[in-house]
Amino acid sequence: MIDIARPRGGDRRRRFGGRGGLVIGAVVVLAMGSAAVAAPAGAAGTPGTPGTPGTPGTPGTPGTPGAGSTLAAAAALSGRYFGAAVAAGHLAEPAYVDTLNREFGSVTPENEMKWDAVEPARDTFRFTRADEITDHALARGMKIRGHTLVWHPGLPGWLVGLSGTELRNAVNNHITKVMGHWRGRIHSWDVVNEAFQDGDSGARRNTIFQNRLGEGYIEEAFRTARAADPDARLCYNDYNIEDPDAAKTRAVYDMVRDFKERGVPIDCVGLQSHFGGYFPVPAGFRRNIEMFAALGVDVQITELDVEGSGATQAAAYREVVGACVAVPRCTGITVWGIPDHYSWRSSSTPLLFDRDYKKKQAYHAVLKALRAAPRP
Ligand code: XIL
Repeated sequence: MIDIARPRGGDRRRRFGGRGGLVIGAVVVLAMGSAAVAAPAGAAGTPGTPGTPGTPGTPGTPGTPGAGSTLAAAAALSGRYFGAAVAAGHLAEPAYVDTLNREFGSVTPENEMKWDAVEPARDTFRFTRADEITDHALARGMKIRGHTLVWHPGLPGWLVGLSGTELRNAVNNHITKVMGHWRGRIHSWDVVNEAFQDGDSGARRNTIFQNRLGEGYIEEAFRTARAADPDARLCYNDYNIEDPDAAKTRAVYDMVRDFKERGVPIDCVGLQSHFGGYFPVPAGFRRNIEMFAALGVDVQITELDVEGSGATQAAAYREVVGACVAVPRCTGITVWGIPDHYSWRSSSTPLLFDRDYKKKQAYHAVLKALRAAPRP
């Protein structure tokens, strides 16, 4: 049984949306008109101070009056970053860009670095869309999270036809070339994303990687990634691993512990943190962060969003941010979008800004929780 792109039946989070089986067909179309772009991206403009993006004169630089008045600046007070998932298609919109530049110190390309986007044809790479985001970030001194190298949705058709040594070589080549393109510029990479099943089995997810390459594919991906960019933090990223008592969390925990014991290069665990009615912030969320951190890895909140509105939503955001800042190795938080209407689950209004880019109650709760963080 091969599960290429379809969500599993028991996958709660997929109720919110996702692109599932549409991906492969779309990629074939994209691939037809693709041109190879292999040159490294140049950073345009003058880099600013990491963690303190913003137009000149904007209050928010740590150590100056007004310190901590934006999300990025408030997070920087305790040495953390605060980022957002960014879509290249919105970068021409002034309100979007103003909010991004003012409030955020890190970007994660929402889709532009995924396999189908960057390698639509075998060994033919197209980085232009992702470069629009990374150039924007680098020019303003923002950090970049790379997302993602090995993930079962979003695979181009040519890859899905491979197996054995050919597939293995294709994975290693993909990791090496994509990481090589941004070598030295990306602070953390989601090397492997969503490799475990939901439910109580704690088993690996049935993907082409698991089924055709076997159990060792995750370890090999991390080793290849370390060689490709030794300066990047290498992360395992997943959802429904926020509750320390869940079987899926324990399975990921065991893998990370095993990797640390055997010297497999892993630096961080990404907790996606897509919360809502089906999956509220677990009571043990902070304990979960502490548990992973105790293994000797960083923890990052990588795709935070919380469905709802008003005080209830704000309280959930406060809880998540409060848990992160209580643990020194929880090094940064990324929300999965900027205004509600661009969210991948926009009908749940899960983000910090409304469709007019007004700060929501949740925004103020997050800002306050970041400012309250213990200072190093
Ligand atoms: C989502 C994007 O937000 C959507 O635009 C896209 O259609 C599907 O992917 N977990 C992840 C992210 O790791 O890459 C997903 O992003 C959301 C769930």
